[in-house]
Amino acid sequence: MLIRSHTCGQLRDAQVGQTVRLNGWVNSYRDHGELIFIDLRDRYGITQLVFEPESGVARDVIEAADKLRNEDVVAVEGTVRVRIGGENPKLATGKIEIVVTKLEVLAKTDNPPFLPDDMVKLPNEELRLTHRYIDLRRPSMQKVLATRHKIYQTTRKYFDENSFLEIETPILYKSTPEGAREFLVPTRQVPGSFYALPQSPQLFKQILMVSGCDRYMQICRCFRDEDPRADRQAEFTQIDLEMSFVRRDQIMEMMEGFVRRLWKELTGFDVPPIQRMDYRTAMEEYGIDRPDTRYDLRTKDISEFAGKLDFGVFKTVLEKGKDRPKYYSKKGVVKALRVPGGAEKLTRKLTDGYTEFVKGFGAGGVAVVKIIKGEDGGPKLDTGIAKFLEPMKAEFLALLNCEIGDTVLFVADTYSVATKAIGELRQKVARDMGIVPKPGAEGGPWNFLWVVDFPMFEKNKDTGKWVAMHHPFTSPRDDQMQAFLNADVDDEVTIEGIVSAGYDIVLNGQEIAGGSVRIHDRDVQSKVFKLLGMTPEQAKEKFSFLLEALSFGAPPHAGVAFGLDRLVMNFVGTDNIRDVIAFPKTQIGADLMTRAPSFVPDTQLKDVHIKSLEQPKA
Ligand code: AMO
Repeated sequence: MLIRSHTCGQLRDAQVGQTVRLNGWVNSYRDHGELIFIDLRDRYGITQLVFEPESGVARDVIEAADKLRNEDVVAVEGTVRVRIGGENPKLATGKIEIVVTKLEVLAKTDNPPFLPDDMVKLPNEELRLTHRYIDLRRPSMQKVLATRHKIYQTTRKYFDENSFLEIETPILYKSTPEGAREFLVPTRQVPGSFYALPQSPQLFKQILMVSGCDRYMQICRCFRDEDPRADRQAEFTQIDLEMSFVRRDQIMEMMEGFVRRLWKELTGFDVPPIQRMDYRTAMEEYGIDRPDTRYDLRTKDISEFAGKLDFGVFKTVLEKGKDRPKYYSKKGVVKALRVPGGAEKLTRKLTDGYTEFVKGFGAGGVAVVKIIKGEDGGPKLDTGIAKFLEPMKAEFLALLNCEIGDTVLFVADTYSVATKAIGELRQKVARDMGIVPKPGAEGGPWNFLWVVDFPMFEKNKDTGKWVAMHHPFTSPRDDQMQAFLNADVDDEVTIEGIVSAGYDIVLNGQEIAGGSVRIHDRDVQSKVFKLLGMTPEQAKEKFSFLLEALSFGAPPHAGVAFGLDRLVMNFVGTDNIRDVIAFPKTQIGADLMTRAPSFVPDTQLKDVHIKSLEQPKA
């Protein structure tokens, strides 16, 4: 084989006159009568090859070149010369071409189902995932893989410099409730028992702190049997970290340093000090715990004002809320979203659609009012619920700082429904108004935010039971510890008010990292398990190893995990997580290339002591 002397992205005019060898794929093919042009592609770039009879090349080389087709794999030898047809400024190698003297066909291809060409319209994703080996040949996909690689390297370097040890933790793990559903793995060795795949290495990394490892990092795979979404996969990658002898501020500082290094290395952008926002503010003003602060639309609780209006819908909600249990989430509220410039841009068709939109989040609808210019030149309330607001017009306009040209949207419901609905509506309105900047790939802006002071617990609305908002190993914030220890399990109001020592990093409205200071005291941990409805026996059965470890000298510790796939999404500018994973799964968890998951023969099931209820379809 003609082993390459250069890559297809390497040659410049400095090499003119040299004899070189290149290997790669036929990217395109142009036959100009006797003259054949081939663009040869590898991971590094594209180089133009010329087959021309007058160069003295053997007849059979021209004939073989004539039979080449897109995606054949070849090796060539030839001489570098200045491109006769003029420079191609789109290619790094655009000043030169290779006059080929020898050609070896290394592999012929069947007719490809599509060409790995970023310039043409891509085929549907199903076809791309089925033939991922072709899809990954596209230069933009190669860039994704290179970006991931660079993140791995920068991560390892930063944490190595800061004395973190990279330690692997098991993939075959114990089934432990952490939040999402687990993937189970049966075993031949112990009939009827199962491993689970880790949702994260959470407990191992805590135990490594008890083991004196002090600082841990791992780029690890996590598995959660949940429905994939645009930024969620059942199998995804975390940059997982844990530190001993720190409190919240120290770990946040270390992670901010990492974010700063990563962005500098990958984009050249200097991340400014990351602002902190507490959870309640996020929920009050943005209706979501991961606010997109790139645009300044805020939501506001106007319940007090709304109670003074003679408007039945608002009154009913506020009244109903009064009868509900005392805790926050069930209170009836009226929330408003002021949209500057909305009077013109948010057409009737759009605002009518908002009612359907919020129904998707359990709310009844959206009330609307526009502030237009009146005959006297001053603000006039128009359409929707204008007539109900009219008697309190001045107070209303002042409350929301309204100006002529605004639209105000209202959602009334329980606190949790109204907050969620208006938070989602806020994002939709921003898209409709065209005020969401393009993703970071086009140069930013990058809006980072720490969200802190989450509640420790929230009620699961289906089961009515408390669940840990982050995970059950998160500590109460230092100043909340006593209140937590004193709280009665049935004291819902106090429990709902306990604030955790958790923190998330949000980037442009997406959670890119989450973590917390951990519980390092056995009794505190036991109390959390109790609150979550576990009996001491259940806690022991699931977590005896943790509780034991905590009783043998556990240092105070804290940690965090970054969603690596989401970082790549930001760097390459895509909102589809499947674009940044070499071999991703579809919405139904299928790997279209290997056809996983798949049925296995009964004999194989028998080996692991399993009998399936389903049979393969004929
Ligand atoms: P958490 O569950 O918040 O925390 O996950 C940490 C980060 O991982 C990313 N992420 C995901 N990315 C893609 N697909 C998913 N299904 C998915 N789920 C989460 C997010 C998220 O911020 N053990 C804790 C961390 C800790 O406390 O140290 C944990 O796993 O970017």
